[in-house]
Amino acid sequence: MSESLHRQQEVPVPGGEFAFSWSDFRMIAGLVHAGSGIVLNEGKANLVYSRLVKRLRLLGLGSFREYCTLVSGKDGADERQAMIAAMTTNVTRFFREEHHFDYLKASVLPSLLDRARRGGRVRMWSSACSSGEEPYSLALTVLSLMGDAPDHDLLILASDLDPNMVARARAGTYDVRQLDSIPHDLRAKCLKAQRSRSAISYEIADAPRRLIRFRELNLLDPWPMKGRFDVIFCRNVMIYFDEETQNRIWQRFAQILEPDGILCIGHSERIPASLSFELVAQTTYRLRPGAVA
Ligand SMILES: C[S@@+](CC[C@H](N)C(=O)[O-])C[C@H]1O[C@@H](n2cnc3c(N)ncnc32)[C@H](O)[C@@H]1O
Repeated sequence: MSESLHRQQEVPVPGGEFAFSWSDFRMIAGLVHAGSGIVLNEGKANLVYSRLVKRLRLLGLGSFREYCTLVSGKDGADERQAMIAAMTTNVTRFFREEHHFDYLKASVLPSLLDRARRGGRVRMWSSACSSGEEPYSLALTVLSLMGDAPDHDLLILASDLDPNMVARARAGTYDVRQLDSIPHDLRAKCLKAQRSRSAISYEIADAPRRLIRFRELNLLDPWPMKGRFDVIFCRNVMIYFDEETQNRIWQRFAQILEPDGILCIGHSERIPASLSFELVAQTTYRLRPGAVA
């Protein structure tokens, strides 16, 4: 079969409620890559179908061809954003990859918090915060060492590309099953139970909230922040990007980190040795002395 014929053909999808050709797949993959950096290879065609089929039903469309016309058109910006949000993976949990929080607590936060106590400025960034568990874990770690941290110049920026995730993170309401990984002593201090007729949910208390500012931010876009960061978390998102995009963003982190700043990345991500970082602990990097900043 010729390559071009293969491209015209239907993607074999279970059920097949909507016609979905390889050329539809390629257009969607191209738009998702351009808008978010996320790479969708042909092995992801079924995933694309199953994630977007709900959008087609909601919009009352008859085929993926119609959907492609919509998202590639000049009035398609909102749907492009919804499409990208549908294609993101938002899995997260409190104190995920706990070794980062242990390292910060033992080796990084003591001097940062001293600085804050002396009136200095401390900034951290959870740069793909999903539904908020990561920045709240950072805030809880800070509060475990410094109960009055919200009264100092110490802030955590929590951002994500997906507006739905930022809204969920800002709401800060979690089901009891999501709280298992929060240490018991912190649970009592930092969560408020909310009882409705059918269920109990837990809301993050005021102190951790006061430490965090939530924003929508696409890592591919220009970053509006002026000052530098002492700690950046960029975990379990670069894995979805191609190498060139990853390296570009690693270097942008180098430019926005304080000279002794720390960058924590996901368990299956790596920063090439040729860039400005050196490994100081498990998936934890510091700028090389004298690295361009
Ligand atoms: C798997 S979650 C990671 C959450 C958290 N960092 C963790 O490790 O548990 C990946 C998040 O990256 C976000 N994301 C994907 N592409 C992005 C981009 N270009 N800019 C900012 N966030 C992005 C997704 O919306 C999703 O919430």
